[in-house]
Amino acid sequence: MSLLVDDLHVHYRTLSGDVQAVDGVSFGIADGEIMGLAGESGCGKSTLGNSLIALTGRMRYVAGTVELDGEELPIGVPDKMVPYRFRSVSLIPQYAMSALNPTRKIGKLTTELLRSRHVDPRAVLPEMVRRLELVQLSSDILDRYPIELSGGMKQRTVMVLSTLLNPSLLIADEITSALDVSTQKAVAEMLVEFRTRGFVKSMIVITHDLSILYQIADTIMIMYAGMMAERASANTIVAAPRHPYTKMLIASLPETGVRFDESRLAGIQGRPPSLLGPPRGCRFRERCPVAYERCAEVPPVIEVAPGHLVACWRAG
Ligand SMILES: Nc1ncnc2c1ncn2[C@@H]1O[C@H](COP(=O)(O)OP(=O)(O)OP(=O)(O)O)[C@@H](O)[C@H]1O
Ligand code: SF4
Ligand SMILES: [Mg+2]
Repeated sequence: MSLLVDDLHVHYRTLSGDVQAVDGVSFGIADGEIMGLAGESGCGKSTLGNSLIALTGRMRYVAGTVELDGEELPIGVPDKMVPYRFRSVSLIPQYAMSALNPTRKIGKLTTELLRSRHVDPRAVLPEMVRRLELVQLSSDILDRYPIELSGGMKQRTVMVLSTLLNPSLLIADEITSALDVSTQKAVAEMLVEFRTRGFVKSMIVITHDLSILYQIADTIMIMYAGMMAERASANTIVAAPRHPYTKMLIASLPETGVRFDESRLAGIQGRPPSLLGPPRGCRFRERCPVAYERCAEVPPVIEVAPGHLVACWRAG
């Protein structure tokens, strides 16, 4: 097992109380596995991804453990996470493309990043150039400003940069969302190529786009309101989902291979509950067409088949 997350709770501290953005999530990722992470906006995908790298701002580690390659990550202690970041776990954050410093050329950005991690840029530059070529970028881009690159070029650059030290785990957060459909496909295929070539061992790919996940992910985890709803192989999630929420998500896809975006997700009636004091019991209860009395209690996670986990009373 590459990654083992056990009963992770990560909240945001606000003046009105704690936002329970990740509330008791457990899962494992095998060596070489690409796990897709999907669910409606605000369900806690980015919080989960970010918490495996660095707690920022109002984020607060509450409970749970994270093991990477058999070693526990000190995710609750930001300073202690520094040596792991970029080397063992790397994140391409949501909106990474627009976060590139516009006043620095790509080469300078790279050098600064490597130096901040005590890596001699000269030692990895040849490999960087080789990998840029692999993603169809010439080394000329090192001498260009981010603004001179297209969205797809920037995203490929960020992918190469964030995996330069061959991290064990890469978390890619919505890296295809701002791209046109053909560029999306190319970027998604490059992620798979990075795994195949061993630039990263395993991956968490966060996206709203289930059709992208269906193409590239081995497994898919669906989150709802800070918790896991269902996790199974990509085929099972698409062809034989068991959680009512997953079923509705899949049913709202016009057909596999068609883009799945926020407007589609909004096709499910109602809204997710507030994570500031969420309701007791199953958090999907208000919107669930098959809810019954028992759903007033939190449903257990049931393994309905090997590797197929469902958090629903009806699944039992
Ligand atoms: N800095 C913050 N302070 C307080 N609450 C926050 C903060 N950041 C996120 N949240 C809340 O935490 C919950 C989870 O947010 P998160 O960004 O992880 O969701 P997401 O699934 O990544 O959504 P999206 O698909 O829109 O990127 C949401 O309810 C959000 O409002
Ligand atoms: S536990 Fe109940 S409310 Fe929740 S998804 Fe299952 S049937 Fe619906
Ligand atoms: Mg997000």
